[in-house]
Amino acid sequence: MDKFVIHGGRILRGTVRVGGSKNAALPMMAASLLLERGQRLLLRSVPDLADTRTMAELLTQLGVHVERDGHRLSLSVRDDRPVIAPYQIVRTMRASICVLGPLLARRGKAQVSLPGGCAIGSRPVDLHLRGLARLKARLTIDHGYIRAHATRLKGATTYLGGSFGSTVTGTGNLLMAATLAHGDTIIEHAAQEPEIQELARLLNAMGARVEGIGGHRLVIHGVDRLYGAEWTVMPDRIEAGTFMAAAAITGGDVTVENVRAEHMIAVLETLRQMGARVEESTFTVRVRGRPGRRLEPVDITTLPYPGFPTDLQAPFMAALTQARDISVITERIYPDRFSHAAELGRMGARITKQESTAIIVGVRRLSGAPVMASDLRGGAGLVLAGLAAKGCTEVRRVYHIQRGYEHLERRLSALGASIRRVADTATPALAAQTA
Ligand code: EPU
Repeated sequence: MDKFVIHGGRILRGTVRVGGSKNAALPMMAASLLLERGQRLLLRSVPDLADTRTMAELLTQLGVHVERDGHRLSLSVRDDRPVIAPYQIVRTMRASICVLGPLLARRGKAQVSLPGGCAIGSRPVDLHLRGLARLKARLTIDHGYIRAHATRLKGATTYLGGSFGSTVTGTGNLLMAATLAHGDTIIEHAAQEPEIQELARLLNAMGARVEGIGGHRLVIHGVDRLYGAEWTVMPDRIEAGTFMAAAAITGGDVTVENVRAEHMIAVLETLRQMGARVEESTFTVRVRGRPGRRLEPVDITTLPYPGFPTDLQAPFMAALTQARDISVITERIYPDRFSHAAELGRMGARITKQESTAIIVGVRRLSGAPVMASDLRGGAGLVLAGLAAKGCTEVRRVYHIQRGYEHLERRLSALGASIRRVADTATPALAAQTA
């Protein structure tokens, strides 16, 4: 296991290029399961991350031949009989659930391990199952697996709203399933996230007939088969937002390239309220912090798109520990997604949690400390805190961070940060205990 060693206090300056979106790439890769044998899906700009590698491994087990050439991924179906997504893979990546809809639609059967809870809280899949049941899938759960059957799915009207809004991967699953269903499917309260919009556009490029893209109501006219296609994965708005927060927390001047600013309205507005100067141009956003001046406090509520994304809550919490007054963050997607708050506390942050709200009293300077990442975005938040802290911060369990950020340490170093990735010499017994 590796850790990041960060010496804080450097001001970030320069240009960084954002890669393809993890959360767009994962369901797009799963869409290859909708193809007939011999058909090929070519995806460009697929980030090289632990999660995209895990999805590639799962698809390989499901009969897809996966070839990677840098950020290009070629996915062609060699064998359309396997239908099992095993626990060993699903437990390492919840997005594995994205194979359920396409397997069922194309192969008539699926056996997918139920994902459990995770470090960011309880994450049920009841809405995925409810939606597929509406399409006349027969579903049972036993021995920790979802077992699904359908000779051919049948179009129906489905409603995907839950207590915390719609479901992103649930919408993706149902959308993929409905493309090959008999008749028309309507998804009411569909997730509107840009990653889902892009998935729908890719499916249309493969021959699907999806209407209403970007709205709360998707209409899918089922077709008999889909075809191979080529597609470039959209830029990762969460990676972009993380670099922008890094610019703000260090009082730096960072130009983030390959950004779709229209996907980031809430984030850019929040940065402006925090006192950063934000300049947008086509595919580029420049964020300038205020060297020598503290950030302004803000109140943030995470919401489904186009609201402030929950995946940027931790990086922005890190930045707000440096504000000159009190900020409030309310988490409306994952009420328990605050494990980073206690670790930030070890660095001198003053954060009080009350149910799904965190109250952050800004401090003048954090102090470097050994801390532990317990999830991907929380880990990124700790790295940002380390960039601003006085002295040395060690962030352990960087494998969480590698799930979603490609070479984060190299790219921050190129902007002037002092960050190194080194082997964690914690004793094996201790490492095993905390894994
Ligand atoms: N929910 C249900 N029932 C369901 C599905 C979801 O109650 O059947 C609840 C969840 O517990 C949560 C809310 O609905 O409270 C939203 O969950 P959603 O299903 O939208 O999340 P997801 O699809 O599992 C994706 C991203 C997450 C991101 C969320 C919210 C992927 C692969 N993952 O998860 O990304 O936080 O949407 O935007 O797209 C990350 O990248 O670090 C990450 C966790």
